[in-house]
Amino acid sequence: MATIIDGKAFANTLCEKLAQEIKQLQTEHSLTPCIAVVLVGEDPASQVYVRNKVKRCEELGIESREYRLSNATSQTELLELINDLNNDASVNGILVQLPVPEQIDDAAVINAISSAKDVDGFHIENVGALSIGENQLVPCTPLGSLMMLQDQLGDLSGMHAVVVGRSNIVGKPMANLLLQNNCTVTIAHSKTRNLDEVCRQADILVAAVGRPRFIQGDWVKPGATVIDVGINRIEEAGKSRLVGDVDFAAAEERAGAITPVPGGVGPMTIACLMHNTVRAAKQQHGLM
Ligand code: GUN
Repeated sequence: MATIIDGKAFANTLCEKLAQEIKQLQTEHSLTPCIAVVLVGEDPASQVYVRNKVKRCEELGIESREYRLSNATSQTELLELINDLNNDASVNGILVQLPVPEQIDDAAVINAISSAKDVDGFHIENVGALSIGENQLVPCTPLGSLMMLQDQLGDLSGMHAVVVGRSNIVGKPMANLLLQNNCTVTIAHSKTRNLDEVCRQADILVAAVGRPRFIQGDWVKPGATVIDVGINRIEEAGKSRLVGDVDFAAAEERAGAITPVPGGVGPMTIACLMHNTVRAAKQQHGLM
């Protein structure tokens, strides 16, 4: 049976350290890190994610300012808000929850955020920095996944990592981080041939496809470490529940270690957002 990687406990430990650091910033530098969280529209999952992010901020002593805009918001209106937040020195981080409604071009929005305040790490300058190994603000889900892998496995050098999914938010930055850590990296996706065989070669298998239980148990190499990034809401036996991109019950039989859903990657994503917000605040004040 696999070790279950406790993302919730790991995130709590990380957040306790951050809370200490924030206290110190307040007492020694009169600095309270501040994040602006922007939600456009009423997507139910996004509302839950934003609520969880704001709650964590409160626990840690990070100031959060929430901006809830209607589904009919124009791109111009959203860009005006971002411009105001860019120019507000008391705001250290800006997060626009994705997806945004279809009348808005998400790339235009992401790249309008000051790269120094881009705590999601999605701005093209932060993406470029990551790709040449000069990490600035790194996307939260891949960063949290990497921390769990390093905690579990120590040095990742020479391991074969297979990342299933090629999104800008998870798959591509995850692959870059693993490459920086001397893994041999394969990026697989919906057009990959013999996906099962490719997965079976992985010492590290990262599932980020957004399809419930897509990765089968017998695609997992015995002893492999499995990171399940998926958060899929399904109806089962008349009940709504969250499942990952991996068939957990079957994969657990073969994996050496595996993250559960919920309680794996999700809490680490939020903890890393807090980490990025503190980092952005310190950088803006010449403290690192
Ligand atoms: N939607 C799904 N994941 C994310 C994320 O990490 N950041 C933002 N801003 N939106 C998301």
